[in-house]
Amino acid sequence: MLRLGVNIDHVATVRQARRIDVPDPVEAALLAEKGGADGITVHLREDRRHIQQRDVERLRAKVKSKLNLEMAVTPEMARLAEQLRPDDACFVPEQRDELTTEGGLDVRSQSARVRDAVERLQARGIRVSLFIDPDDSQIEASRETGAHGVEIHTGRYANALGDKSRDLGEVAAAVAFARRLGLEVHGGHGLNYDNVLPIARIPEIVELNIGHSIVARAIMVGMEQAVREMKELLRKAREA
Ligand code: PXP
Repeated sequence: MLRLGVNIDHVATVRQARRIDVPDPVEAALLAEKGGADGITVHLREDRRHIQQRDVERLRAKVKSKLNLEMAVTPEMARLAEQLRPDDACFVPEQRDELTTEGGLDVRSQSARVRDAVERLQARGIRVSLFIDPDDSQIEASRETGAHGVEIHTGRYANALGDKSRDLGEVAAAVAFARRLGLEVHGGHGLNYDNVLPIARIPEIVELNIGHSIVARAIMVGMEQAVREMKELLRKAREA
């Protein structure tokens, strides 16, 4: 089965536009679960531009599927994760002026730092994945940190105009390599209802984390329906 992690950051983006209490990411998470989400993902950014610490605390109490916390590799965030106790954590790079997470984490150039953070969280029973570009040297470096898995960045594939086959091939090769090294493999970034199928057909991927496109669709048809439609695509991808 291919799990769908629904990233609800942008429900909080709409709320923060007015700094009031609606729309509520917790309500969105519960509707996403009703629609078939296998997990709820949030990115607690250092600048707190969307999800707030209080949201993660409330999600921890209410989410019945599993909670995946995306975070920067900093001692402050590791401390927060120990306190917030998500089921899973995903280390991502973070730059304050970016619109969204732009590239993968450079694990190779900061392997000791990443290894320490991975050990710290995994010692508390939190499964850690590293969000990396489809690049063999980053996959090898990730394995060396002892992380449970990797999330392969699908952004270049998603953004490619016209023929996507080269970028798809790059993702598929990286996924196969990571799996051969014994890592659990996730994927995400930029996936939507039009481009998800070829990625969902890569057999070694066990989880996709999808945010913006689902929240955008949810504005039109509601969160439960938006998630149901994406789950149906993932199911179709694995049928043949
Ligand atoms: N996976 C990771 C690690 C991310 O940082 C993000 C964006 O927060 C996503 C998946 C979801 O990307 P999108 O919003 O483009 O679906």
